[in-house]
Amino acid sequence: MIKVITYGTYDLLHRGHIRLLERAKELGDYLIVGVTADDFDKTRGKINVQQSLIERVKAVEATGIADKIIIEEYEGQKINDIIKYDVDIFTVGSDWVGKFDYLKRYCDVVYLERTQGISSSELREAKRAISIGLVGDTEFLNKFYKECVFVNGIHVGGICTNQLHIMSDAIKKLPLITSDYDELLENVEAVYIRTLPENHYKDIKKALMKGKHVLCESPVTLNVDEYEELSELAKTKNLVFMEAMKTAYVTAYARLLLLLKGGVIGEITSVDATCTSLQSKEDTYRWRGIHEWGPTGLLPVLQILGTDYREKRLAVKYADKERKRDIFSKFSFVYKNAVASVKVGDGVKSEGELIISGTKGYVYVPAPWWKTDYFEIRYENQNDNRRYFYQLDGEGIRYEIVAFVKAVENGGKHAYIEEKVTKTIVRTMEEYAAEVNTVII
Ligand code: CTP
Repeated sequence: MIKVITYGTYDLLHRGHIRLLERAKELGDYLIVGVTADDFDKTRGKINVQQSLIERVKAVEATGIADKIIIEEYEGQKINDIIKYDVDIFTVGSDWVGKFDYLKRYCDVVYLERTQGISSSELREAKRAISIGLVGDTEFLNKFYKECVFVNGIHVGGICTNQLHIMSDAIKKLPLITSDYDELLENVEAVYIRTLPENHYKDIKKALMKGKHVLCESPVTLNVDEYEELSELAKTKNLVFMEAMKTAYVTAYARLLLLLKGGVIGEITSVDATCTSLQSKEDTYRWRGIHEWGPTGLLPVLQILGTDYREKRLAVKYADKERKRDIFSKFSFVYKNAVASVKVGDGVKSEGELIISGTKGYVYVPAPWWKTDYFEIRYENQNDNRRYFYQLDGEGIRYEIVAFVKAVENGGKHAYIEEKVTKTIVRTMEEYAAEVNTVII
């Protein structure tokens, strides 16, 4: 019996897929189809897959062509599958010519002519794309713009900035370039805000009042009342108001949270996160150290241990007497059954690692943990240790944009950063400014 295997995403199953499956089946007697899991597929830049894995598997199943369907979950799985299922022929469409020649050591590799004129990407793009405007005066917008290009279903309609000279050539070619925020809002359906945190409240409010969806860099506001007001406003107007924090969307980080929920290290007793930088640039658009790093440092603590801590203490070091420039802060949290510490700073350098300790073992995420593709779960017996690798594209920004587009398409729902986490981050920033439970060192 000749066994054939093929892989694909099969999003919005179309005749190109069906023709490929039929010809793959004709190559042998038994066809195995590997359907790519969501996260894995992001690595190929196939962003904003519309259907869930289950829907895609069902669609392939319904064709009746496959004898067996498997899920492709990680890079390097193909070799394992070929050996495991004793496969004779590996096949894919001609868009992949050469790419899978390395499998020739294990079986025959056949590239089948791709059907012209149809693809999942085109079907996805055919759905109306959301037009988003960029707002802010920082070079980070160049990075954000670049990542938007990878995502189906969104296009950048313009930018509102006072610093056009630091923007890329691609941004300079956008259809609308302005320093008038109102003008930008008139011309887009959504905005990505990366202005100074002090300006977020008014910038978000204006956008929501004009009926625009908002993706705003964290901290979204510096005060809980303001956050609640904006959150209500977004709900009454049926708009998406989402916190942007790339780490939350990094695949390795998201998988780590799931593993922890599954109890891999037993009862979690301590979370220790450090994020620091030494940025020498002194420009007017600089964020305070606490605003720059605080939300990221707090994220794993609040997502893993929750927002109901019993106690929070803080030590802050400033570079100046007027307390205008904070260079280091250390938060200490006490929970009912656990503790946490968060060290953040812009002006003091430390090892940017994340360690989560539990009753059965611990998780070690090496620096820089906030944009990692790798972590380890370590136990008393080293032989039990496990290493986890995930592809990291665009530092998580790409996936953040996908989540935003999906939220807009799904009428506001998104499952990444919970509202209570966003709110607690805002509260922490507010208490920071008011020096609640704070010692200045
Ligand atoms: N395929 C094909 N003809 C098409 C589209 C896809 O033969 N018009 C083949 C691909 O070469 C691959 C399989 O179908 O072997 C699964 O393709 P997949 O990547 O899921 O679909 P695409 O439509 O190519 O998706 P995208 O547009 O996102 O690249």
